[in-house]
Amino acid sequence: MSNRHWRKSQSEDFFIKDSKKKGYRSRSVYKLSEIDQKFNIFKNVKTVIDIGSSPGGWSEYAVKKIRSGKLLAIDITEMEPINGVSFIQGSIEDKILQEKLFEEIDNKKFDLIISDMSPNKTGNKVSDQYKFYNIADSILEFSQNGLMSKGMMVMKVFIGHGFEEFKSDLRENFETVSYFKPKSSRKESRETYVIAKNIGYN
Ligand SMILES: C[S@@+](CC[C@H](N)C(=O)[O-])C[C@H]1O[C@@H](n2cnc3c(N)ncnc32)[C@H](O)[C@@H]1O
Repeated sequence: MSNRHWRKSQSEDFFIKDSKKKGYRSRSVYKLSEIDQKFNIFKNVKTVIDIGSSPGGWSEYAVKKIRSGKLLAIDITEMEPINGVSFIQGSIEDKILQEKLFEEIDNKKFDLIISDMSPNKTGNKVSDQYKFYNIADSILEFSQNGLMSKGMMVMKVFIGHGFEEFKSDLRENFETVSYFKPKSSRKESRETYVIAKNIGYN
């Protein structure tokens, strides 16, 4: 084995290894945990929706944090059941499904929306970004209707085409918008996380 290759395998993703060891469903859970440590996102939270939840790392983390609250999870991909999590399969862009989500919480609003949503990559950067921000727009629209005014939205976004426009939409809708790149997010990835508070205050 060449030195270079050896070094590479030595520094192989700690988070992948650690998540396997601890039995987590995904390495994404470290990102949510870092966001939570910094922004305390589950404080006084009773109702949460996890958008793009499969395979379920974030949902597993969130359900422990909210204890007696209600956690809904939605993804176009099937998710293995988690105790205390109501999973609905479908796209967040689907208006009928959005209505179902509201029915699940008796047509009230969510305290917290978390989204680690990302569509499958096609290899074409521009159309991937375009597709992502179309769905991201649906999530923002969903927040306008379904987030408590003092609620919080935590969402993965990708820097690149469409990012600046989405940033200004967020500024128009939320009183406070912060961006945070967790250490567990790969440096070469263009992802970062939005933490937005107080919708409809502007
Ligand atoms: C990075 S994974 C999420 C990992 C998850 N947070 C975890 O900890 O296990 C992104 C997910 O977004 C989902 N997704 C993509 N487009 C979606 C859409 N329109 N509606 C809902 N989920 C979507 C994908 O199916 C995928 O499961």
